[in-house]
Amino acid sequence: MRFAYVLLRDFRNYPYLELEIPPGASLFMGPNAQGKTNLLEACFYISSVGSPRAERESDLARWGTNAFSLAARLEDPDTVTTVKIDTVVTPSVRRKLQINDTRVTRKELLALFPCVYFSPDDLYIVKGSSSLRRKLIDSILSRQDPVYTRTLQRYNDTISRRNNALKKAGFDTSWRRTLETLDELVINLGSRLLLRRLELVEDLSAHTQSTYKFIANGNCSVTYISTVGDIAPDPEDIRSRFQAKLREIRHEEIARGVTLAGPHRDDLEITLNGKSFRYFGSQGQQRSVMLALKIAEARCLQQSFGTRPVLLLDDVFSELDGEKKSKVLSLCDFGYQVLMTSIELPKHTGPRFSLFCVENNTVQPWGTGNSR
Ligand SMILES: Nc1ncnc2c1ncn2[C@@H]1O[C@H](COP(=O)(O)OP(=O)(O)OP(=O)(O)O)[C@@H](O)[C@H]1O
Ligand SMILES: [Mg+2]
Repeated sequence: MRFAYVLLRDFRNYPYLELEIPPGASLFMGPNAQGKTNLLEACFYISSVGSPRAERESDLARWGTNAFSLAARLEDPDTVTTVKIDTVVTPSVRRKLQINDTRVTRKELLALFPCVYFSPDDLYIVKGSSSLRRKLIDSILSRQDPVYTRTLQRYNDTISRRNNALKKAGFDTSWRRTLETLDELVINLGSRLLLRRLELVEDLSAHTQSTYKFIANGNCSVTYISTVGDIAPDPEDIRSRFQAKLREIRHEEIARGVTLAGPHRDDLEITLNGKSFRYFGSQGQQRSVMLALKIAEARCLQQSFGTRPVLLLDDVFSELDGEKKSKVLSLCDFGYQVLMTSIELPKHTGPRFSLFCVENNTVQPWGTGNSR
């Protein structure tokens, strides 16, 4: 699926914007603070009914307004689909979502097609705390399957109830019965999450490895590190290890009053030639692996949706050398529509792309860029 046309009304800095977008790679270029990131954010919103960066929906309505609208024409080789989103942000968020002029639910719109968004801040997925890496896999799995989202919510609720019970059980043994019931629930829900995560990380790792080889050079791998132990993607194995682990750490958990093992504490280890990227990766290597992870995300989503996601790559070229820049541009050769932003024209020899100039709340076509 690709964007052929988008319309933004009162979204961020855009009072009104209509834009035809060609297939392949497009580069949106312009000085700082002109609306490059906002444009990609609008595209992401159209596929995901949410922003990858705003904390509140009201941040998205142009200052001084209380509603915004987005629309798109999406094309794939044999269909044309229109999407319309009207959102009122105050006093409470209300949305009207339409596909081909028929009202749909959020879930129905989410099932239409995915976008993958790369932001320079995503570097923290490699460099930052484990919660960001868990968020990455949870967001892919939630996008693939709404059941995962519900299981995750129930798991997190159960963990807070269990933490509460652990604190009480320290001085009141009558809480131990409650704890046993909650153990069972945590193991049930947690094992389902773990199975899905292990399966995903297997695919994600394979795709990250091949994409990293393509963009840079070296052997990159992604491994799921579980606090439950050394688990295999087998439901029975996961359950029994989870059970054994909770039994093993029972005293410590009661002493500390928190749940110490389970998917909420797990991590991903990302390595290059066997060494952790987090500690040893150069800036460019970390960017390349991040990009590889995002392309891997796209491939995983492609498998479950049966259509190629659109790649939204914000400020993707900084800190990449010329050869890697042209590798990024050649991603469209794999059939992806790639929408990128940059403050300057990348110097490179390589694939062609359509060039747009973003300035003063407007976006103008600028011909094609290439240096072949
Ligand atoms: N809700 C809003 N209403 C109006 N303007 C907004 C809103 N939210 C953000 N802006 C403004 O939109 C402008 C463009 O922001 P954007 O992040 O898209 O810039 P950019 O072109 O990506 O710049 P950079 O190259 O620095 O990343 C900024 O000046 C920002 O303050
Ligand atoms: Mg920006």
